[in-house]
Amino acid sequence: MLPRLGISSDQETLIQAAAEKVARLCTEAFEENGMFTVALSGGSTPRPLYTLLATGKFARSIDWARVHLFWGDERCVPPDDPRSNYRMVRESLLDGVSIPHGNVHRIHGEEDPNVAAAGYEKELRTFFGSTGVNGLPRVGFDLVLLGMGEDGHTASLFPGLPAVTEQVRWVMAQFVEAVSMWRITLTPAVINTAKHVIFLVSGAEKAHRLRDVLEGPVQPEVLPAQMIRPVHGQLLWLLDDAAAGCLKRGR
Ligand code: 6PG
Repeated sequence: MLPRLGISSDQETLIQAAAEKVARLCTEAFEENGMFTVALSGGSTPRPLYTLLATGKFARSIDWARVHLFWGDERCVPPDDPRSNYRMVRESLLDGVSIPHGNVHRIHGEEDPNVAAAGYEKELRTFFGSTGVNGLPRVGFDLVLLGMGEDGHTASLFPGLPAVTEQVRWVMAQFVEAVSMWRITLTPAVINTAKHVIFLVSGAEKAHRLRDVLEGPVQPEVLPAQMIRPVHGQLLWLLDDAAAGCLKRGR
């Protein structure tokens, strides 16, 4: 089944569309479970989305006390390091809205990578339970937000690394040669138990790789973003025209 595409004319309208979608999913989750569990993406693309969610109508309309924040991946650096995904979310979202401290499930990038990965997985297993297939969650995150790198990676699932094809573990630490640093990442196995997965991709520099991922041969070890196929949930790619410029499908 072809994944759903939502294509906006430019980056600003893309961010607005993404914020509207996240707010809708949040309302649905509140109605269904009384809370909203979201794993956030790092990188630069989602930062304006988080800023928009922390201001104006979104900040006022979302009951942030019922939101649980997780991360799809983290760089193995302290939380105040400029490279930290937690720091990016703190600056763009957490400093602007009131989310209870216990609802912010940070990956401890300052710890030994394997210790931090094991600790995060333990926290996820406790939170979601592991009564599904292969000891995965029966139902995972309400939403996983993802970006895509120019090499087709997503989260910290980089081409050729073992985490890309891991079927049992939920979280893995790996040294990533491409960025010369340790990273901690959710595995596709747990991402694919989410109710909704949204890729947010902007910019012409992603267009060729996006075409390869969405319309080219299936080769997930080369293009890890292709591993993201929710088992029961919905997959949506939110793009701007620049990123969608090489797609046959288009709007
Ligand atoms: C990270 C992200 C990573 C990111 C892509 C795209 O920790 O950097 O999780 O997967 O989404 O690299 O990054 P940009 O949005 O900066 O292009």
